[in-house]
Formats: sequence, C-alpha cells, structure tokens
Amino acid sequence: MTGLLARIREQPPEVLEAIAHSMNVRASEPAMRAICARYMARITLPEGAHVLEVGCGNGAATKLIMQHVNPGRLVGIDPSSTFVDMARETFAGEPLVSFALGDAVATGQGDACFDLVIAHTVYSHLVDPEEALTEAHRVLRPGRRLVIFDGDFATLTVALFDGDPLQAAVGGVLRNLVHAPYIMRRLPALVTSAGFSLHSVEPHGYVQTSSPDYLLTLLSRGSYAAVQAGEISQEVVDSFDREARRRVANGTFYGAMLFLSLTACKGGDSATLVARRRPRAERSTSDFCSIWQRIGRSLDERCLSGCAGKVLPAISRSSQCWCRKR
Ligand SMILES: C[S@@+](CC[C@H](N)C(=O)[O-])C[C@H]1O[C@@H](n2cnc3c(N)ncnc32)[C@H](O)[C@@H]1O
Repeated sequence: MTGLLARIREQPPEVLEAIAHSMNVRASEPAMRAICARYMARITLPEGAHVLEVGCGNGAATKLIMQHVNPGRLVGIDPSSTFVDMARETFAGEPLVSFALGDAVATGQGDACFDLVIAHTVYSHLVDPEEALTEAHRVLRPGRRLVIFDGDFATLTVALFDGDPLQAAVGGVLRNLVHAPYIMRRLPALVTSAGFSLHSVEPHGYVQTSSPDYLLTLLSRGSYAAVQAGEISQEVVDSFDREARRRVANGTFYGAMLFLSLTACKGGDSATLVARRRPRAERSTSDFCSIWQRIGRSLDERCLSGCAGKVLPAISRSSQCWCRKR
C-alpha cells in the first residue's frame, strides 16, 4: 500500500489541513530548527544561486531554507495545489520565491537550471525515488548539489520498555503515512546509481520529551489513518492519545527518531565542492588557478583588471577574474 502522503492529491481538505499544521509545528520546534540550522548552514552556494525545493508543501521548510541557505532565487514545487496555494500566500510579496505544481519525477523545470535541488522530508513519501533522482540530475547544473533530508522512519520510537503498547501507534504511522521508512538507508547507493557523486551523509538525532508537539501530531495522524484503513477502532486511538498525553503530563514521555541529511554532487567534480566550502577570506586567484589546472582546463586568458590573475570562465560566468567578482 502507498503511504497517505504519496497519494496527496486524493486527500480531503481536513487531512491536508492536519498535514499542514504538522509541518508548521515541526518547522517551529527548537529541536528541528537546530537540526535545520546545522545541516542547511553547510550548504554553500555561488552568489545568486537558483534553488529548486522539491515537495515544498505549505512552505514551512522553505522559510528555513531562505534563512540558512540564502539563495538568489527559489522555486518550490509540490503535487498538492492546496499546499502550493498555502505556500504562495505565506510568501506573497517575496520576489525571490515562487511556487508551482510539480512532482519529484516531473518537476516541470528546464534542463541544467539549478545550483541546488533540495528535498526536505519528501523522499520517504516517494513511490519512485530512482525516477526522482534522475529528474534532480536533469535539472541540476553540472557540478552542483543535491541535498536530501529525511527521517530514518524505521528508527521512530516512543517505547519506554519492551512490548510498550504505545509503540503500536508508531506502526500506524509507518503503515499509513510513510511510504518508504528505510529510504534514507538506501539513498547513498541510489544517488550513486543515478550518476551523482556522494559527498556526505550526516546523522541528526531528534529526541523529544517535555514538548513533543510534532511527534504527537504524527502519532495522531497515523492513528487516524489507521482507523480510516479499518486497522483499529477509534477507542484504541483515544487510548493511545490519552496515554501519550499522560506521559507528557507526568514527564515520562520519550520519542526519538534519527534524521539524515545526504549531500551529493552532479558530475563528481569534487574540486569545485572543496573550493566552495573554504571561507572566502582564504580563497585566492592562485587557489582557483590550481583547482582549475587540476581539473584540466587551460588558463590562457589574463584578467583585464591588472591583478595578474587569470579569467576563469566557468567559475565566473561574466568572464571576469575572481578578484573582480569579490
Ligand atoms: C512531510 S511533507 C514535507 C513538506 C515540506 N518539505 C516541509 O518539510 O515542510 C511531504 C511533502 O511531499 C509532497 N509530496 C508527496 N508526493 C510527492 C511527489 N511525488 N513529488 C513531490 N512531492 C511530493 C507532499 O505533498 C508534501 O508536501
């Protein structure tokens, strides 16, 4: 069976409202904000970079991307017109951000248009991740990055002891809301097969005890979906809910999941990635010349500014020397 979010176009308004609420809750939690700040701050981009956010939902994570990644332009796509409308409303009057209907496997974007494709908690909902990776590869410029962040949902736990009945609520989430709970474990091999060069896979522990608002919304949505699927009765759901809230109230609630961020590069040109990761102050024309020489390009043209540097056409698209660009 496909997960509920993999069938997002079929969902009634009340389910979409509940998902949108859950996205907002998660994006505003201090624990998730800290994780996003950490993984997004590592994404360094050329100035004015174009970013494609796949599965942008209502724009809750878009705000964090704009804050930490600071692109020149961001296009968010999602298959749900309700979410796209919500995202447009949130970013009304923001000229750098736009949203469109689109699917991870058919983004509706041109070839080699983007410096970054980012998917934040989306791949666990995709039916065809291989096709989505092929599409991400198509729309990325050579040497540019793919960043995928998601929960390793198979690690989701609220159990306090072996056989804890509350853990059954997690089963409702995995069976009904998440299409591919193991996808983050398979992605390193999949991105490589899709022609990317794998750059990093970083773990991010997410543990909630006193204010587990996102986990409570997740359990409640999973349980609701389990009732709709005829798996359990509303009485069982009510008892899960009471037990979870009892634990929060008496300070015994524990919920945890491992999130992972994966970074890959189209074309496997690691020299370009290394150059971009170094702080600006450390860069010099000669650094870029030596990188350029390593990747086998000739350096015949001299910079017209008189700095004795060379023009680096692919780094500086205006064909000026690096010294003039900074
Ligand atoms: C858990 S939400 C995450 C939304 C947003 N990225 C965030 O973190 O707030 C998953 C999103 O993936 C979208 N989605 C589902 N199937 C998709 C597909 N085939 N292609 C692109 N997005 C998809 C859903 O509509 C939903 O907005």
